[in-house]
Amino acid sequence: MNRKYRKVIIAGNWKMNKLATDAKPFVEELRAAMPKDKTCETVLCVPFPIIPAMARAMRDSRIAYGAQDVSEHASGAYTGEVSAAMLANLKVKYCIVGHSERRQYHGETDSAVNVKAKALLDEGVTPIICVGESLEQREKELTSEFVAYQVKAALAGMDAKTVKRCVIAYEPIWAIGTGRTASAEQAQEVCHEIRGVIRELYDARIARAVSILYGGSMNAKNCAELLAQPDIDGGLIGGASLKTEDFAKIISATEEE
Ligand code: 13P
Repeated sequence: MNRKYRKVIIAGNWKMNKLATDAKPFVEELRAAMPKDKTCETVLCVPFPIIPAMARAMRDSRIAYGAQDVSEHASGAYTGEVSAAMLANLKVKYCIVGHSERRQYHGETDSAVNVKAKALLDEGVTPIICVGESLEQREKELTSEFVAYQVKAALAGMDAKTVKRCVIAYEPIWAIGTGRTASAEQAQEVCHEIRGVIRELYDARIARAVSILYGGSMNAKNCAELLAQPDIDGGLIGGASLKTEDFAKIISATEEE
């Protein structure tokens, strides 16, 4: 983490779990368990139908809510889709784009990720852009090249001021939901490379300002070591964000330096 230059963010990704009726008790429990004077940005990215209940539950709290996907389109005949304007209208602050589960199961392409990120930024919603390699790519030593390609594709056509408003999440696919976390060294190495790609595309000042998160089996036990890395500015947390105690421990870990 480097608080001096960028925001530390602990974001939960509930994926397709829980119900709207779980929002209030979850937030009450989380608020009781997490440090009162926390300085990190805390976000819960929840399924669309849970967003209004989250908004109510988080009123007067220092937690933000987010979404997990957005349409590429602004409006119109796109049955089942949710636009960036609809999210902004619900005061959604963050939205995940390019999660590997959406790339894998819903055919989300790099160009779609780019369009979605821009649609969000136009509406004042911060995109959390996910990138990460498969196990096969890692074993073939293609990680650096592939992740750099994903980052460049996601940021294509954005000016420096816009990129500063993006968050990148490095989520190696082989570490998601598997209990197999990237080692702190592996995660740091790729997050450092991602910052290098941003520096190459823009400049050192912009690269220094972008928060880069790690995601993939981050939990209450392994978070401290990951968060201690200089280029890891927080976490994108799946399983451990479903339990208030675990999520609160990860939030607390950002305060210990
Ligand atoms: P897990 O923390 O369950 O491995 O999920 C990570 C993730 O995909 C967050 O977006």
